[in-house]
Amino acid sequence: MSLELRGITKSFGALVANDSIDLAVNDGEILAILGENGAGKSTLMNVVYGLLQPDSGTIAVNGKVITIHSPLDALEAGIGMVHQHFMLIPVFTVAENIVLGNEQSNKLGILNLEQARAEIRRISDEFNFHVDPDALVENLPVGIQQRVEIIRALIYNAQVLILDEPTAVLTPQETDELLRNLKKLRESGRSIVFISHKLREVKEIADKITIIRRGKVVGSASPSASQEELANLMVGREVDLKVDKQAHKPGEPIVEVKNFSQLDHYGRPIVDDVSFEVRAGEILAIAGVQGNGQSELAESMLGLQENTKGSIKVSGHDVLANGVLENLRSGIAYIPEDREKDGLISSFSIAENLILDIHQNQPFSSKGLYFPDKVEANANARVAEFDVRTQSIFDSASSLSGGNKQKVVIARELSRPVKLVIACQPTRGLDVGSIEFVHRRLVEERDQGRAVIVFSTELDEVFALADRIAIMFKGRIIAIVPATESRENIGLYMAGLTPGSTANA
Ligand SMILES: Nc1ncnc2c1ncn2[C@@H]1O[C@H](COP(=O)(O)OP(=O)(O)OP(=O)(O)O)[C@@H](O)[C@H]1O
Ligand SMILES: [Mg+2]
Repeated sequence: MSLELRGITKSFGALVANDSIDLAVNDGEILAILGENGAGKSTLMNVVYGLLQPDSGTIAVNGKVITIHSPLDALEAGIGMVHQHFMLIPVFTVAENIVLGNEQSNKLGILNLEQARAEIRRISDEFNFHVDPDALVENLPVGIQQRVEIIRALIYNAQVLILDEPTAVLTPQETDELLRNLKKLRESGRSIVFISHKLREVKEIADKITIIRRGKVVGSASPSASQEELANLMVGREVDLKVDKQAHKPGEPIVEVKNFSQLDHYGRPIVDDVSFEVRAGEILAIAGVQGNGQSELAESMLGLQENTKGSIKVSGHDVLANGVLENLRSGIAYIPEDREKDGLISSFSIAENLILDIHQNQPFSSKGLYFPDKVEANANARVAEFDVRTQSIFDSASSLSGGNKQKVVIARELSRPVKLVIACQPTRGLDVGSIEFVHRRLVEERDQGRAVIVFSTELDEVFALADRIAIMFKGRIIAIVPATESRENIGLYMAGLTPGSTANA
């Protein structure tokens, strides 16, 4: 099925998020959309899926103009969408999630649970999805949950599938599987719109690429273009995909972790007897496949986890004995992995979010008085420095695009005087230009004498930043190596193997 957008315009107040956008995707074709954070990609897709109404412009399917007032209209027209934040209900089974909203399903021909089960099995077999219709969604890894969303679209017979940053939360293995499945869907004649900031994926899978900048289509590119060319087209300037950094000069130890474990409800270790040190002026990257205890270790370092053994000290303070706020105020900057849940208060303004942990400090408050002009000046400075694309610092954080939310969290955390920066997946969802900027900033933090810990599942990021690399596997740190270690060996460690032998670590 072909999908054609003509002159789609969508404004939020004075901000034109989509400015007369034309684009087309043909039968059995994968179109990638590239664009900076805030360029208008998600807005455009939400218009196509009926979640937003355009101010003007038309949407045509197979050459026929249609009106889409809701996702139901979109599904009826054969358009399905997989959102980045999945819209599944954790305590329901896969099949229950798919027949949810019964009236919709009835209208689209899915009558009951039994029928849904059979359909899920059929589609799952066809695409090798290995999805069990009776599994509880909460027990499924993210990669499988995403397949459930794809199945949902296919059950409603979607011929055009929209995926908004589908790989941001996937492991490299899950990403490979998704890309394989998308190719299969293409072979079956479906059309796919694929949004991603990862140029390597886009090059691998796209048949054509449309580039959007500040709400406008600025051009198209061939998937054979180099990553540098694509990056330049997106950002409108040269982007340096490598970080320039001098040899580090480690100083006194800032972080001392000794025989630290964190246990689950059954007393089993999620983080298992880890010990390490990070010095001032040094970046330690903690690498590993997602789900090997990194998140729990990161949260423990801020005093967020219970049921712990061993000790974590930052500049001599016992982090585990202190509360989170106390830890933040005594000199830890913390960029959480889930910005929506832990990094921002969506209903607060951008200006307020930029001072969340420090609103009671000077210059923002003093002796019970609050100084809005200082809050405003701070927000304007941070927004300019971190290039946060927003109409106004008084808009709520919820109005920001995904990547710009991330920039607000980073801007806040990197503008406090701290001794330790803990950055969890710091560039997830950022465009290449912003990744370059954030990486440079983290290296600057190091050069100013801070200890920096970067938790990252992206090997490119690990190598761009690290002075030393610790690899986590099944809760343990199985190796700490200099950043000169080969990529291959790090990959082996991440799989729980020891380079030079095939024994399991
Ligand atoms: N509900 C809203 N109210 C006000 N502004 C909005 C709203 N939704 C989006 N915007 C603005 O529209 C612009 C485009 O946002 P959009 O989410 O489409 O960007 P994007 O290209 O998907 O970026 P990212 O790569 O960061 O996800 C941004 O400047 C954003 O702040
Ligand atoms: Mg987006």
